Amino acid sequence: MTTYLITGGSGFIGSNFIRYLLNKDPDSTVINLDKLTYAGNQENLRDIENDSRYHFVYGDICDESVVNEIFVTQKPDIVINFAAESHVDRSIGKPDDFIKTDVFGVFVLLEASKKYGVDFFIQISTDEVYGSIDKGYFQETDQLMPSSPYSATKAGGERLAFSYFVTYNLPVIITRASNNFGPYQYPEKLIPLFITNALENKFLPLYGDGKNVRDWLFVEDHCEAILYLIRKGTIGETYNIGSGNEMQNIEITNLILEYLKKPSSLIKPVKDRLGHDRRYALDCTKLHSLGWRSAVNFNKGMRTTIEWYKSNEEWWEKIKSGEFLDFYKSHYKLSYTS
Ligand code: NAD
Ligand code: DAU
Repeated sequence: MTTYLITGGSGFIGSNFIRYLLNKDPDSTVINLDKLTYAGNQENLRDIENDSRYHFVYGDICDESVVNEIFVTQKPDIVINFAAESHVDRSIGKPDDFIKTDVFGVFVLLEASKKYGVDFFIQISTDEVYGSIDKGYFQETDQLMPSSPYSATKAGGERLAFSYFVTYNLPVIITRASNNFGPYQYPEKLIPLFITNALENKFLPLYGDGKNVRDWLFVEDHCEAILYLIRKGTIGETYNIGSGNEMQNIEITNLILEYLKKPSSLIKPVKDRLGHDRRYALDCTKLHSLGWRSAVNFNKGMRTTIEWYKSNEEWWEKIKSGEFLDFYKSHYKLSYTS
């Protein structure tokens, strides 16, 4: 019986991970600590909320008393820290909460893990900590050159985690995954924003020339890789997690419009993101040498994702008519509806 403390489990990747874990490992117990920010949504785990192995704790990873209470009462064996402010555009407008959650929050979790002891502390970092690369692929040993307040705070958080391994021997593993996509992703991110806008016949606001490149990883592959690293990874090490599915934003946009049989006139070129990273690309040799490779083909993952958004309008319509709308009106400063 393993007890997992999953933070940020009500967000996109965290909720997919909890569902995946409970399916794969019937003997696991999950404590989900989540602050339910705009991105946290209890609907994401409605199907398992009555599972006796799942426990939700409403709270902030920056709150030492809540975190310590979980360690004292639940004695987690494994901590996986997904909790973060995760959207680059929001970090450009208002970095405050990024600094709190993505750096100080990690510190609070590390301190509690050091004090009470854990078997693993997995810090979910991101490929964005390397910054942009025009040609070639980033290796884990490359220098970190984060270029947005989001990626800078993620770099701070993961380096702090590493320091707890070196200084206090805390069993830390750091993961740096590429862009995830799949069901339950908050519709502020490229793929769900464009799918849902297209379904609503609204503009798809494409930044700059639309030729920025990301490596797209289906969320279930990411979940599998994290569990794999708990079994096969080495403590103190950092692992890139990518799929090799490099795509320009305009290619993704066209693919979504074609699939949904919508006109390309919905594409609206808008002002570029400040400090917009041109390309992310990972060398995943280190993870591949442990025997793991992403399994989900990009087109299949996209079909699954688009069909999920088509069948779950209620989920995203509720989100898009709430806090999201205010953010987008001020963010794009253009008429949001076509
Ligand atoms: P998300 O924004 O969908 O979810 C974040 C979750 O964290 C939400 O449930 C939110 O309520 C919770 N949270 C935020 N601040 C908190 C706090 N102070 N205390 C407790 N809970 C808090 O994010 P996501 O896309 O699921 O990303 C999860 C993690 O994976 C993040 O650490 C992110 O940096 C990392 N990551 C994301 C991607 C991606 O493509 N989405 C890729 C690589 C790494
Ligand atoms: O690479 C991993 C990272 O991927 C994660 O660490 C982040 O949490 C996650 O948000 C994501 O960051 P990106 O900035 O790459 O993702 P986003 O979906 O915001 O944007 C993807 C690309 O699409 C990027 O080049 C910007 C562009 N874009 C995005 C939006 C929201 C647009 O052209 N228009 C848009 O409206």
